[in-house]
Amino acid sequence: MRRLEGKTALITGAARGIGLAFAETYAREGARVAIADIDAEGARAAAAGIGGAVVAVTMDVADPASIDGAVAETVAALGQIDILINNAAIFTAAPLVEIEHADYARVFDINVAGTLFAMQAVARHMIARGIQGRIINMASQAGRRGEPLVAVYCASKAAVISLTQSAGLNLIAHGINVNAIAPGVVDGEHWDGVDAFFAQYEGKAPGQKKREVGEAVPFGRMGTAEDLTGMAVFLASDEARYIVAQTYNVDGGQWMS
Ligand SMILES: NC(=O)c1ccc[n+]([C@@H]2O[C@H](COP(=O)([O-])OP(=O)(O)OC[C@H]3O[C@@H](n4cnc5c(N)ncnc54)[C@H](O)[C@@H]3O)[C@@H](O)[C@H]2O)c1
Repeated sequence: MRRLEGKTALITGAARGIGLAFAETYAREGARVAIADIDAEGARAAAAGIGGAVVAVTMDVADPASIDGAVAETVAALGQIDILINNAAIFTAAPLVEIEHADYARVFDINVAGTLFAMQAVARHMIARGIQGRIINMASQAGRRGEPLVAVYCASKAAVISLTQSAGLNLIAHGINVNAIAPGVVDGEHWDGVDAFFAQYEGKAPGQKKREVGEAVPFGRMGTAEDLTGMAVFLASDEARYIVAQTYNVDGGQWMS
């Protein structure tokens, strides 16, 4: 039996990478899915590639009006929202003395405010309809521990872990479970950008940082988006009903908590 039969999911930042893998897996498990992304063309292509009951929605999570519009569009297209995955995020890195306020503000608008206000908009919908929903936030190992060149992104992901705790404790009173996934290093376009940054700041050859971080993972390699899909399905399933306000490490053994 498919594990998400009859469920509807809104997944932010799902035009590519981990979010796209979640959308593909959820659709395979029987869910109707809205692929929400600031990259409208990418979202349309992703939805068309999966087919079936998958729609594309344009959404800038940094803009509360855009969040409300995307939620309304998803409800109009698919009926309701049972599962929200707050997956959209951007990465930034710089030595502390070079961090620019505008860069900090953009990262926090997307990674932190985006997560908070998407939770709020979808929770309002779930509460109004009496939906015992699920919200899954994408945290990171970067939120467990600071890194010398990654202050802003690490702080944004620590905030996601904290928001997951507060929202989880508040929304379980409405039967809505909020939890998070903390991946380690996951290969893909996101990490191509991280690798390019370290090539610039640490004088590494292209690809060298990726090789090093992969070798440092106890499992023996970087993760793939598909390594995360099992947890994303589990947290949305009935088996996870008693799990509240937690952040799960899915990182090949890098962090223990
Ligand atoms: N890749 C990793 O190693 C890794 C590790 C830990 C956590 N994560 C987290 O997992 C999630 C997915 O990561 P990924 O590697 O697939 O990233 P990615 O950069 O490949 O994809 C991010 C997606 O978010 C979209 N997006 C960016 N800004 C947006 C906005 N304002 N509104 C809506 N959509 C927006 C992008 O268009 C893109 O489709 C992120 O939250 C990331 O922080 C990734």
